[in-house]
Amino acid sequence: MNFENLLYEVSDGIATVTVNRPKALNALNAATLKELINCFAAIRDDEAVKVVILTGGGEKAFVAGADIAEMQSLDAVEASRFARLGHELAAAVEELPKPVIAAVNGYALGGGCELALCCDIRLAAENAQFGQPEVNLGVIPGFGGTQRLARLIGKGLASELIMTGDMIDAAEAHRIGLVNKVFPAADLMTAARKMAGKIASKGLVAVGFAKAALRDGLEMDLARACNLEADLFGLCFATADQKEGMQAFLEKRPAKFVGK
Ligand code: CAA
Repeated sequence: MNFENLLYEVSDGIATVTVNRPKALNALNAATLKELINCFAAIRDDEAVKVVILTGGGEKAFVAGADIAEMQSLDAVEASRFARLGHELAAAVEELPKPVIAAVNGYALGGGCELALCCDIRLAAENAQFGQPEVNLGVIPGFGGTQRLARLIGKGLASELIMTGDMIDAAEAHRIGLVNKVFPAADLMTAARKMAGKIASKGLVAVGFAKAALRDGLEMDLARACNLEADLFGLCFATADQKEGMQAFLEKRPAKFVGK
């Protein structure tokens, strides 16, 4: 696939999507949002891709936010349409039945923090910085930050970040549960590929069902969510991977999953 603002490569079942506008710290303009939406649609249909890593091009940024230069002159209707593009991208990432790991290699601000938030797992370089600085610009987060940040770290901490516009470093982001793990910058992509490779070796229908149960179940009451989990658990027993996984365990050998 060829893109103007993204780099895309697949190796060993792992797709790496790199937002690549380093001169603008990978800021998300409408063209880049559309390319990301198209890229995730293609990944959805590509059986060769098992796990996705999302990162930023250059040394300084994952994504430093929505593109302020492009947003500046929008009217209210256009701004709302632009925000919905961001939501469309977040939905494409969240509804992809494959895991997406954010490898946050620098600034993850505004729409960049929101992009990391819609991924399943967030790994960060020690030099990463997180924040929702929109109030500094006279606006609020527009790609889901008020919702996903509060759901992930709690309303109090999300309110503080969103209302002060403060940035936090990777260690603090780790402490409050915004990122899963922190690595020296030089080791981040190796660590992300190692985790992606580990997930790619599992029964991938089950991994996709786990993603769906976590995503949809957390929006339901506990009884309904447990029903959803029971249904998806049952569906796993219709797969070859369940048969292979359990047989391999009983025969004391590694399982060979086929993703069906
Ligand atoms: N949009 C457009 N361009 C951006 C950008 C953004 N979000 N962030 C950085 N850039 C551009 C800068 O304008 C600059 O371009 P020029 O070289 O042409 O001047 C280039 O990237 C490098 O940036 P800086 O010179 O500012 O680099 P720095 O190291 O001094 O500072 C920074 C880095 C602290 C990240 C600073 O660039 C910054 O504060 N960026 C804006 C962060 C921000 O406010 N993000 C939220 C955007 S609003 C949003 O995202 C809304 C939403 O939820 C949908």
